[in-house]
Amino acid sequence: MENTAKTTAAPESKPEKKKKLFSAIQPSGEPTLGNYLGAIRNYVALQDDFDCVFATANLHAITVRQDPKILMQNTHNLYALILACGIDPKKCIFYHQSMVAAHTELSWVLSTFTQFGELSRMTQFKDKSKTHADNINAGLFTYPVLMAADILLYQADVVPVGADQKQHLEIARDIAERFNGNFGKTFVVPDAYIPKNCARVMSLTEPNKKMSKSSDNKKSFILMTDEPSVIVKKFRSAVTDSEARVYYGEGKDGINNLMDIYSACTGLNFEQIEAEFEGKGYGDFKNAVGEAVASLLEPIHKRYKELISDKAYLEQCSRESAEKAAYIAKRTIDKVYKKVGLPRM
Ligand code: TRP
Repeated sequence: MENTAKTTAAPESKPEKKKKLFSAIQPSGEPTLGNYLGAIRNYVALQDDFDCVFATANLHAITVRQDPKILMQNTHNLYALILACGIDPKKCIFYHQSMVAAHTELSWVLSTFTQFGELSRMTQFKDKSKTHADNINAGLFTYPVLMAADILLYQADVVPVGADQKQHLEIARDIAERFNGNFGKTFVVPDAYIPKNCARVMSLTEPNKKMSKSSDNKKSFILMTDEPSVIVKKFRSAVTDSEARVYYGEGKDGINNLMDIYSACTGLNFEQIEAEFEGKGYGDFKNAVGEAVASLLEPIHKRYKELISDKAYLEQCSRESAEKAAYIAKRTIDKVYKKVGLPRM
């Protein structure tokens, strides 16, 4: 059953009753500038317009082999970093997926409403089967079902997704509709949410590829926790072209990427950027981009360092959020078990 996710435009003014939004992010190593400008920064903007539930997707992370200590550390660090970016635990719910058992409970039920064939078609599964050929585990295969459970558990209206997760959102919609068709309306069928100003950040050394921390070339990506001097240095070695003129155009992937990043950091549009660097060389431009990124990340670094040393606060935040999340989730999972015919404590 094919079914294309609708997209919802960002609201111009605050709706009366806020729509529910769910998103999660995997704690697989340190987030990059791409993760920040492409997703995390938008979470912060969304928390006023939507009723937001965010989670670290640590159950998804174990579909590839993890060192337990490092996973735990990455999970706590990511949590602190996202708080440092401005996610306010008083405004929204933000917890670790593993803290709310209903995710896995719903995932099992939904897996019986998901076909082998449709999971086999998932491009991420096919890709990961190649990159992790020694560990094509069942969890890697049923990954989209757990993701559907995350979303459907909270009756989310919208899910902000990048291109790589769109197929997973479509399968979540299919599963929701199938279940609703069988048992009557149980789940909200979620829409994809394409945020207004969301930058797609490309590699600094191969600007036709997405910025990725798994690249072998450390100069190709900026980590959110990179020191300012490192950031400036990496931008200085960014790949450009031989034209030596700053403007947005075809065949200028490197410069286009730097313009996107500069625009995302400063709020300037391309025309204004062109004007600013008219008659100047790429050296000046690359320095300016590096410095803009470094100063955008500076307050986040500062807050992150404070938060990461306050373990008690972080734990309290995630626990309080998890309790709220579990309360909402319970309503859904109780309803689902009853409909399917499963006794529950
Ligand atoms: N799979 C998503 C990713 O890797 C993370 C994720 C898990 C997610 N559950 C989700 C995203 C639910 C949106 C909604 O990016």
